[in-house]
Amino acid sequence: MSDVLEKFRVDGRVAIVTGAARGLGLAIAQALASAGASVVVTSRAKETAEAAAAELAGAFDKPTLGVALDVREPASVQALVDRAVAKFQRVDILVNNAGCTHRGALDALTPAQWDEVVDTNLKGTWLACRAVHPVMRGRRWGRVVNVASMFSQVGLPNRSPYVASKGGVAALTKALAVELAPDGITVNALCPGPFETSMHDASARAGMLTMIPLGRWGQPAELGPAALFLASEASSFITGATLAVDGGYTAR
Ligand SMILES: NC(=O)c1ccc[n+]([C@@H]2O[C@H](COP(=O)([O-])OP(=O)(O)OC[C@H]3O[C@@H](n4cnc5c(N)ncnc54)[C@H](OP(=O)(O)O)[C@@H]3O)[C@@H](O)[C@H]2O)c1
Repeated sequence: MSDVLEKFRVDGRVAIVTGAARGLGLAIAQALASAGASVVVTSRAKETAEAAAAELAGAFDKPTLGVALDVREPASVQALVDRAVAKFQRVDILVNNAGCTHRGALDALTPAQWDEVVDTNLKGTWLACRAVHPVMRGRRWGRVVNVASMFSQVGLPNRSPYVASKGGVAALTKALAVELAPDGITVNALCPGPFETSMHDASARAGMLTMIPLGRWGQPAELGPAALFLASEASSFITGATLAVDGGYTAR
């Protein structure tokens, strides 16, 4: 029997991680590269994406690619997949990590803010799955990992577009898991809890601490292994699942 740890290796795989120049996306890209994948990273800023790709290549001695992406734009998403295929001839893993939020009470938020959050988090995830599907289908193997949220599962005041979009990502994960299973593609979601990234300021961090059973915020590097699990052969019989990585927040 082969070593079980081998199932977590992603040598020879090509992964796209959206929004990977910082925060959780960067941590996921680092985890995949350290386990053997060639990683395509994105940022809305071309120079930022290229710099992140160069740093990753240097740190893990793997070929990488940095591409500018606005995940709300179908042409931008298609161009990302085309660039990845042109360089690597394949895409095995897609991590839909790009995301944003606006805070505010229902009456204070604007329709434009709703559109920005829902288009980035939900429509962007759908667009990327749609663009990568023919490539994965051609090899009859694929892993899609959607970065949803603990707020896919529970509510939070003053974040209605974010909570709605992430609930949508969890539902989309199930819809595509069922639809793409015959093509050998699994689709799962991570539901991160509170992680220390630029998405939260210091007051948000202090306010949420009492809600986290493990008594602390997560560090971005703590999400990487969970993403690797869902991106690798180790999760071969798992599809349509949501995996909470939240310090127990949603277990209360
Ligand atoms: N931190 C948490 O506690 C937490 C908890 C649950 C879920 N999440 C989710 O985890 C993901 C990463 O969040 P984070 O905490 O790492 O936040 P972050 O540091 O603010 O990173 C957000 C990322 O999304 C990218 N992005 C934003 N709008 C985009 C667009 N229109 N097109 C393409 N990329 C776009 C950003 O890229 P550029 O700015 O470089 O363009 C950036 O890399 C998000 O989906 C978030 O909802 C985070």
